[in-house]
Formats: sequence, structure tokens, C-alpha cells
Amino acid sequence: MVLKNITVLGSGIMGHGIAQISAMSGYRVVLRDIEKQFLDKAMEKVKWSLQKLSEKNKITNAQVDEYYNNITPVIDLKEAVKDADLVIEAVPEDYNIKKNVYRDLDIVSNNNVIYASNTSTLPITELSKLTKNPSKFIGVHFFNPPQLMKLVEVIPGSDTDPSITNEISNFVKGLGKTPILCKKDVVGFIVNRVFIPLVHEAVYCQDRDNVTMQIIDSAVKYKLAFPMGIFELADYTGIDVIYKATQEMSSRDKKVILPHPKIKELYDRKQLGQKSGQGFYQYKGDKYERIDLSEEKASKYDPTAILGVALNNASWLISNEVCTKEDLDNALNLGMGLKTNLFELANKFGVQKIVNELKKLEIYGEFYHPNEYLLALK
Ligand code: 3HC
Repeated sequence: MVLKNITVLGSGIMGHGIAQISAMSGYRVVLRDIEKQFLDKAMEKVKWSLQKLSEKNKITNAQVDEYYNNITPVIDLKEAVKDADLVIEAVPEDYNIKKNVYRDLDIVSNNNVIYASNTSTLPITELSKLTKNPSKFIGVHFFNPPQLMKLVEVIPGSDTDPSITNEISNFVKGLGKTPILCKKDVVGFIVNRVFIPLVHEAVYCQDRDNVTMQIIDSAVKYKLAFPMGIFELADYTGIDVIYKATQEMSSRDKKVILPHPKIKELYDRKQLGQKSGQGFYQYKGDKYERIDLSEEKASKYDPTAILGVALNNASWLISNEVCTKEDLDNALNLGMGLKTNLFELANKFGVQKIVNELKKLEIYGEFYHPNEYLLALK
């Protein structure tokens, strides 16, 4: 089957970006949301991003218009999916919202259409069973910003037809991205299994060590070679996304994450990060903005606990054969922009020191218990 028409459901941070890169690869794209104001905002963001890419000579001025015009914003669901070969669902990370969307979608979509969910944490098999055709259902997990991040996790559910996995992996490659197969449908898949718990850990570090967010973030950026600090990245991703991912992950597996109450507090106060002007940090508006981090601030903090938590979850993924170590390194590099592989950092910091730190933290819960793969590295 040749995919030509793509419909993206949900025009938020991920939805508008996925629509944009699909439009940039020559697909006819429909972007669907439930209110015009959401679609208007999304199309504004697409314009901003295309103009940025043209400023950097990655695309021409003519392409800005061409790609923009390849996207049709639509509110009516039936109209949105009438010609679709592939529907990519990127609605909020809430099981009940997704359940309703798939119920409505099943009524109006034709039988050949492939459903791909951009869920960040929900089990694909569970979602696929909500639909009329689980064999044509798959996870395609993009990373924020989809326009720049090269990774897409591809997650087949237990009923997904292997030909669909193949087709979707080729679609991802056609977008200029690297598909990495998540071999088991585990909560958080590969990258979020590492990333989401780190946001909570960064807040615990602040509590335990009584240092500022900028100091922790600077250490993460300059000592762990992340492109952004953890608080900065959480604000950039959206506190609502972090909160909902946390809920879905911890309701399915208590050991995967140690939720810190601060995330729920921010969420309840609608301090959703950069998009609302306030999250962990304060912002001037809802536009792309960076936090002032420095090597000087980094020198004041030892981020061993943060590295330990990342390594421990990474070790779990490898020891449970969700992915190979090589795929893990690629995924973190392409999905989160890590400039140094985690296990290289482990050698630099000292595996024994990291394990000791995790053991010290075990008083706070089993979450910190060092994984056998990590222990075997000593
Ligand atoms: N489209 C086009 N250009 C964009 C853009 C977009 N969407 N977003 C940012 N840019 C531009 C910036 O405006 C900037 O342009 P300028 O040079 O004119 O100012 C340029 O890209 C480079 O940005 P920065 O100077 O801020 O520098 P960086 O080199 O740090 O790159 C980044 C930005 C790619 C966002 C990088 O910081 C990064 O990789 N951050 C980590 C992102 C990450 O971890 N994402 C995954 C989160 S987890 C997730 O998404 C999963 C979900 O399920 C939770």
C-alpha cells in the first residue's frame, strides 16, 4: 500500500510538528483538532518553525509556503479522515480521552486505514484492543520537537501485523527519521522510561541537596552532556505531558517511577511550562526560550544521583531485552540529544560510585535498587 494521505489527530506540541514533517515529505496532511483556536495556534507554530528552517537555509522561501499549504486544518472528524491512509493520533496522554477518540474514529474511518498512536507511555496492545482492527494498530512515538529530533520509536502491539511494522518503519525513514524498534510493549517504551523518572529525581535532588534548579540543570548540561537541563526540558516538554505520563506509567508499574508531589502541584496550578509562561521556571511568553545555564554553576553540583537513576532504568531496559545497548544509546542520542553515551558517562563517574549512591537512596524506595545489569558492570 502506498501511503499518500496522513491525518494527524491533535494539534498540540507533537501533533503540529508531526503534521509539519509529514507535509515536508510530500504527504497531503490533514490536521484535526476539536476547536478552531487550537488549529489556528498550531498553524502559527508550523509557520514559525518553517520560517526558522528557511532562515537557516534548510528549506527555501517557496518551500515554506508549499509545506504550509500541504496541511489542511479540519475540525470535523469524518471529514478529516475521509481520504486517510494513515491516522496518527497525538491527542493528550489520557487513557479516557484516547478511548473516546478511537471509538469515534472507528465509526467514521474506512477499514484499510492504519492507526498509529504517538502515545508516550500507554501500552500499544491495550490501545489497539479499543479499535476494530488491532492488526493495523501500531505505536509511533516522536520526540519534541519532531521537526528537529531524529528518533521515532516504533512499537508493535501483540496483534500488530508485521507488514504494518515494516510499512510504518519505512514511512518513518521517509520522513528523514530513524525508527528504533521497541521490542517489548513496556510502559514508557525506551526513552520515556529513562526521561520521565529523571524529572522527579531532579526535584528530589533539589530537596535533598538544597541547591537551585539552575545549578542542577547546569550540571546536567555540562557534566552529563544533555542539551538542556532536566527542569528546562520538563518545562519545554510540558508539565501536563510529564504529569499524565507519570500517572499512566505509575498506575501500570509502581517500580518504574517515584513520583514527586511537585509535578502534580504545578499541574494543578496550570503551571504547564513554557507554553503557559510558567512551569519550574518563568518565561516571557509562550515562545521558544532557553534557561541561562553555565559551567560555573555546573561546578557547584555533582549529578551522580541523576546519572544513577538514568543508568538504572537504562539497565532495566537492556536486561529485560526491550532494546539492545546500541539501540538505547542511539535512542537517547537521537531522541534527547545526549552527546555522550550513558554507559560511557558511567565509566567516567565510576560505576562503583554510582551504585553506592543508588544503594544510599534505597531508603527512599525500591525504585533505587540497582539493576543486575548495572551491578555486573562493576
Ligand atoms: N523548528 C525549527 N527550529 C527550531 C524549533 C522547531 N520546532 N525549535 C527550536 N528551533 C531552533 C531554535 O529557535 C534555534 O534557532 P536560533 O539559532 O535561530 O535561535 C535553533 O533551533 C537551535 O536551538 P538552540 O540554540 O536553543 O540550541 P540547541 O542546539 O540546544 O537545539 C534542541 C535545540 C534541538 C531543542 C536541543 O536543545 C535538544 O535536543 N533538546 C532536548 C530535547 C529533548 O530531549 N526532546 C525529547 C523530550 S521527551 C519527548 O518528547 C517524549 C514525550 O513523549 C514526553
